[in-house]
Amino acid sequence: MIKRETIEKIFDTARVEEVIGDFVNLKRSGSNLKGYSPFNDEKSPSFMVSPSKQIWKDFSSGKGGNVVSFLMEHERMTYPEALRWLAKRYNIEIEEAEQTNEERQKQTERESIFLVLDFAKNWFKTQLFESSIGRSVGLNYFKERGFRQETLQIFETGFSPDKHDALTRAALQKGFKEEFLIKAGISVERNGHLSDRFRGRIMFPIHSLSGRVLGFGGRILNTSLKTAKYINSPENEVYHKSKILYGIYQAKQSIVKQDQCILVEGYTDVLALHQAGLTNTVASSGTALTVEQIQLIKRLTPNILVIFDGDKAGINAALRGIDMILAQGMNVKVLLLPDGEDPDSFSKKLSTENLQKFIHTNTKDFIKFKALLLQDEAQNDPLKKGALIRSIIQSIGKIPNAIQQEIYIKEVARIMAISEEVLFKELAIVLKTAQNRSDKEALRQRTTTTLKPVDKKAEVMPGLSRREILEREIIKLLLLYGHNDVEVEEWDLKEIPEDNSEPILEKRVRKSQVTELIYKYLQDDELEFSNPVFNRLFNLLSSKIMQGEILDIAKLMPELNEEEAKLISDILMEEEKYQLANWKDRQIEVKSKTDTLGWHVMDILLNLRRLLIQELIKEQKESLKAPIEASERIQIFNLLKDYLLLFRILSTKLYRLA
Ligand code: CTP
Ligand code: MN
Repeated sequence: MIKRETIEKIFDTARVEEVIGDFVNLKRSGSNLKGYSPFNDEKSPSFMVSPSKQIWKDFSSGKGGNVVSFLMEHERMTYPEALRWLAKRYNIEIEEAEQTNEERQKQTERESIFLVLDFAKNWFKTQLFESSIGRSVGLNYFKERGFRQETLQIFETGFSPDKHDALTRAALQKGFKEEFLIKAGISVERNGHLSDRFRGRIMFPIHSLSGRVLGFGGRILNTSLKTAKYINSPENEVYHKSKILYGIYQAKQSIVKQDQCILVEGYTDVLALHQAGLTNTVASSGTALTVEQIQLIKRLTPNILVIFDGDKAGINAALRGIDMILAQGMNVKVLLLPDGEDPDSFSKKLSTENLQKFIHTNTKDFIKFKALLLQDEAQNDPLKKGALIRSIIQSIGKIPNAIQQEIYIKEVARIMAISEEVLFKELAIVLKTAQNRSDKEALRQRTTTTLKPVDKKAEVMPGLSRREILEREIIKLLLLYGHNDVEVEEWDLKEIPEDNSEPILEKRVRKSQVTELIYKYLQDDELEFSNPVFNRLFNLLSSKIMQGEILDIAKLMPELNEEEAKLISDILMEEEKYQLANWKDRQIEVKSKTDTLGWHVMDILLNLRRLLIQELIKEQKESLKAPIEASERIQIFNLLKDYLLLFRILSTKLYRLA
């Protein structure tokens, strides 16, 4: 937990133009800065940063906001990650709220380990690119396997010389403590002496999503030697094998842009595919895929393409992976390579163009993949066919969304020439078995009531403007459902036609935490609450929720002034009364709240957006009445152009969503 004062200091200190300048090439344009959109490929720059307002706007994607939301969008950081990143960038010391001694010690230990790992990564790199042995042995090895320098630089590969303790000595000389060399996993202690863990290997640093080195994989150069082909960092405070994906840092932007993540098994596979233009590739690094790894991908895209070797082990790994990915509500496709090939070897046999073609024609959805696998055997054997179908239905049963399930069932019916009815019956059996296992969980989720429509009751709230009513409604959402995830449909801007016709939009479904969703929408519209009490409460609640803190009203109260405390208890009381009324008096169909929550959130946000547009137009009309100085004309003209563009985008989105 970062202290509120620290958060304020970060916001006060960070300059949006400086931070974005780290990622985007910006050029001055009037009082603003302009550049090419980092979210879309485009021919003319439509990305704007305003130093005076400390905001940014990307006219090609419709995204915008402040410095924190830029990091959240562009670097896919969470809210606390973005704050910590900024604190580091601006040398702001982070004050943690209510940290115990133990927590503080853990924090410094983690930091020390990170420092050691960073040092080691740079040292391995220097060995590879600058030492004569590194160049003749390591670099040459990479070269013979067809890896280009540029690729090696991107992945920061290195070389560990075959010496007893070269790295250990270098690190000690730099002042790193033995304790942390061991904890970081780069040195091992034997008979009271420290030696290097990695010796005579090419080194693959493993980066976190935000680019910190968490550990290493080291490959032996000569596989005929009788040691393990790969040695990996041991599990420690920062390296948790099951929670990371090799290459995620280098791939993340491409994953977002392509809206797909390619999943392979090995380090060299990632490098090879990246080099072949498939920059959206990550590896599970030889371990069985974990839920945490899938969720990491889910932060970037709901679509995964699994590319595995065509041998038995590869097929089994793919089969296991499929069900886990489906269970996370994601879409999965599979590509099996010819037997004996892995992505690295295979990609080097084809031109980039032919590789893309091969992938395109051979990628299968999971149903076809499973069907094809067993088809030959199953064709003349009804028993085997039954087993195959059950296996497919099992997979479909993992999907959390009923509509999606239905679509897949229809597809199976078509492919396998079986009636849908039979398949749905089978699915019901699968689901029932699954449900028995998690009945308690399901029951808990179902006992919440449906939400009421926003406007009807809110309109009678005395003394509040329409905008304030919506603002209050947002506070309520944070209080009651701030931690929930919802799925919402969004329209992303694809293109703004030159001829003033309707902007071209693309639909996208995304899952997001209620609070993060609201936060980003308000940022998009450069919107602050008009009511200062609501505004302060919104900042307070949203920052707590996005930092992962559980809202405890009793604990919150001391931080609130009288007015704020009253507002919160009012809101909570209302909800209580409403829920009671709902149960007793009316025979309202009780839906689970998660069914309607996404709709409800969007409804409020869009209503707010509608108001904003109306106000913007009014404001512009007013300002045009005043006499204009010649020097201001160009500026005003530019402003109007921006607003007009913004207006076109917003109004099209509203129209689509209505
Ligand atoms: N792996 C590992 N430890 C091993 C063997 C494999 O951690 N002893 C992991 C590595 O992440 C490796 C992946 O499993 O990249 C796949 O293993 P493998 O296919 O054997 O290696 P490749 O990645 O194909 O490496 P290379 O092409 O250099 O043989
Ligand atoms: Mn290989």
